[in-house]
Amino acid sequence: MIFKRFRDDIETIMAHDPAARSRLEVVLAYPGFHAIVFHRLAHGAWRRGWHVLGRFVSHLGRFFTGIEIHPGATMGRRVFIDHGMGVVIGETAEVGDGVTLYQGVTLGGTSLEKGKRHPTLEEGVIVGAGAKILGPITIGAGARVGSNAVVLKDVPAGATVVGIPARQIGEARAKPTEFCAYGSTGDIPDPVARALDSVCADVSALRARIAELERQLEARTPPGQDASVIPITGATERARGGLR
Ligand SMILES: CC(C)(COP(=O)(O)OP(=O)(O)OC[C@H]1O[C@@H](n2cnc3c(N)ncnc32)[C@H](O)[C@@H]1OP(=O)(O)O)[C@@H](O)C(=O)NCCC(=O)NCCS
Repeated sequence: MIFKRFRDDIETIMAHDPAARSRLEVVLAYPGFHAIVFHRLAHGAWRRGWHVLGRFVSHLGRFFTGIEIHPGATMGRRVFIDHGMGVVIGETAEVGDGVTLYQGVTLGGTSLEKGKRHPTLEEGVIVGAGAKILGPITIGAGARVGSNAVVLKDVPAGATVVGIPARQIGEARAKPTEFCAYGSTGDIPDPVARALDSVCADVSALRARIAELERQLEARTPPGQDASVIPITGATERARGGLR
């Protein structure tokens, strides 16, 4: 059971990090993997009521990886912490299956209350480097949090949020739990690209219209005469008018 989880963790890193060349490399050189291993041990101790041991193991994990996960935090399967340095995950945080966190992410609290005070990240959420998600809020499945965002409110499933305080950009993704490396899907409409697309479409339609008009004008031009140099006479204008 525990080995199956470790195997899943390794396969997740292999699938999600183009820099990972072998499983051995993942086991030896991925702090995100080491942090998850330390957390499983620390969490096991915490759940049995061995709080000091849990804290100590968690502290060792932090010492070796630079990633601080409170032993009370709930971590799902296939969680990928890439690079990891500076990640802080609070006691009542819940991190769902297949979540990706980059370096410098904080899942923190905003109050000293003892109850739930840290965020919940649902399945497949991707959190960019340096983002802070604060308070007992929920980040919906497959949502993407931009690097350095500060998120203070719930985020709907599949949505992308950026900035301080974080605001939603674009539409929510249709398949929110599909992984996209570094959170980039390239499917958020860029207004400049959209404007260019519409200009290109107009130009194509106008070109087709002009070609059709030229073809019709050609058909009405007396033989031996160049349609482009026909003087605009009433007849020509009528002919052109008739082409509309
Ligand atoms: C937020 C994010 C997921 C969006 O990615 P995307 O779908 O490719 O979106 P785009 O790059 O097309 O950007 C869309 C808009 O959001 C803005 N934006 C993107 N990321 C932003 C960020 N972190 N903060 C503020 N604005 C951001 C862009 O400027 C753009 O604005 P515009 O439409 O006014 O031009 C991505 O930019 C991000 O931050 N990913 C995390 C990457 C990371 O942490 N990598 C670390 C690897 S070590």
